[in-house]
Amino acid sequence: MDQKDTSTLYSDTAIRQFTIMAVVWGVVGMLVGLLIASQLAWPELNFGIPWLSYGRLRPLHTNAVIFAFGGCALFATSYYVVQRTGQTRLFAPQLAAFTFWGWQLVILAAAISLPLGYTTGKEYAELEWPIDILITLVWVSYAIVFFGTVGTRKVKHIYVANWFYGAFILAVAVLHLVNSAEIPAGWMKSYSAYAGVQDAMIQWWYGHNAVGFFLTAGFLGMMYYFIPKQAERPVYSYRLSIVHFWALIFTYMWAGPHHLHYTALPDWTQSLGMVFSLILLAPSWGGMINGIMTLSGAWHKLRDDPVLRFLIVSLSFYGMSTFEGPMMSIKTVNALSHYTDWTVGHVHSGALGWVGLVSMGAIYFLVPRLFGREKMHSVPAIELHFWLATVGIVLYIAAMWIAGVMQGLMWRAINDDGTLTYTFVESVKATYPYYVVRVIGGALYLAGMLIMLWNVCMTANRGKPFDIAIPHLPAQAKGA
Ligand code: HEM
Ligand code: HEM
Repeated sequence: MDQKDTSTLYSDTAIRQFTIMAVVWGVVGMLVGLLIASQLAWPELNFGIPWLSYGRLRPLHTNAVIFAFGGCALFATSYYVVQRTGQTRLFAPQLAAFTFWGWQLVILAAAISLPLGYTTGKEYAELEWPIDILITLVWVSYAIVFFGTVGTRKVKHIYVANWFYGAFILAVAVLHLVNSAEIPAGWMKSYSAYAGVQDAMIQWWYGHNAVGFFLTAGFLGMMYYFIPKQAERPVYSYRLSIVHFWALIFTYMWAGPHHLHYTALPDWTQSLGMVFSLILLAPSWGGMINGIMTLSGAWHKLRDDPVLRFLIVSLSFYGMSTFEGPMMSIKTVNALSHYTDWTVGHVHSGALGWVGLVSMGAIYFLVPRLFGREKMHSVPAIELHFWLATVGIVLYIAAMWIAGVMQGLMWRAINDDGTLTYTFVESVKATYPYYVVRVIGGALYLAGMLIMLWNVCMTANRGKPFDIAIPHLPAQAKGA
């Protein structure tokens, strides 16, 4: 360690680590996704081994892509953005290092315990109580580092991206603490603190806000920083971004019951969830329009900048899934879509299209800057990745939409004498070709991710990471 004064440099070590691991976990999580997609088409791929069975690998997939891939991308970008927009270095870099190693330990614990069959059975909150405690420690440290950096910023203003990241960190803390309240009954066994319909209600308040805050608010923070940066234009409407923020975080909290339509949950609660879900269309589209219109006057950049294309196309998928979601929350529509692959299509138009593409765009922006290179090792490889990912998403989601609507219609078809027209097995057989198309779409998406891993490794290997100096600000910008 040399003796130079680090107080004038950005603190980027944890960001480099999180960025690389986001790509690595993306590959792992999507590989497991591809395996379970293949198992649905060819069940023999379970190989009769319990820890390779669909029921155990499915939560491994969701945890790996949401919390490992998405989580690492969120940690990396939030640490980057909060320093650059506050013109200050990370508060407590050692604690930031702890968040990196702690989060990797959580992921490792998930990767071991889920295939072994340890699970709370709560979707997206499957990890058992000792891991829940570790998550809490890491998350509290994350909050200290992030808000500590906001608190020690050298600029008066708090840029809107930080509002979204901040809301994501706070909301996820509350969601995790409330939904994971459980009574241990052994080292890797616990019972939920809630029972019956309350348990379901809490779980889907958590589940929906995991979508709203983990898979949306944090990534909107990314969108508000990286799109203006890459496009070299100011955000289209700063005022709209503030309205977007408050409307979105207020509305998301109430929409959870749309996951429990036609269940034992009181009917009025279901209707309330539906109404708030419909209202959610407005802030979601406000944000999408704000991001896309940031390009006004610079549309030509989309032609030759593949990184910008990742970022902007992610927003079109965001718009698509946030139109589809409110429609699916209408009770009569949900009566058709629920339990079918339509839901899985919706999930992946948001997950692959929005979360995946915006993260990839942000990582392509970050890697050369973090590793001291002018640009990524291969720009044509970014281009290829973009097309593989886009074609992959379209195949995946179109196959699931068709399969889902078909399943819903087959299950409700009734003959004149009141008997069912189709048996369940007939609907499974009819779904088979669409499952194969999904495997092809998933393989293309994963292929793009592998190309990204190669490109990132080449860029990082041949680069010379150096610490970047914090610029000195004119007094006016400091709010003096
Ligand atoms: C190569 C890419 C991917 C493939 C092949 C894939 C495949 C799958 C499959 C087969 C399922 C189970 C569906 C079912 O139970 O019927 C699933 C579920 C899920 N995946 Fe993926 N996935 C991929 C990428 C992603 C990514 C990047 C994310 C998130 C960022 C994601 C999030 C989810 C979620 C949240 C579920 C649960 C859906 C639900 O409960 O309705 N997936 N995925
Ligand atoms: C305005 C925004 C949105 C609304 C109102 C909405 C609404 C819905 C509805 C009604 C369902 C089906 C519930 C069911 O029948 O079980 C659903 C499922 C889901 N949505 Fe969305 N959605 C929105 C945006 C998104 C986005 C952007 C993503 C991903 C990034 C996403 C991820 C999911 C997931 C993971 C599920 C499956 C949950 C499960 O059953 O495991 N949603 N959403």
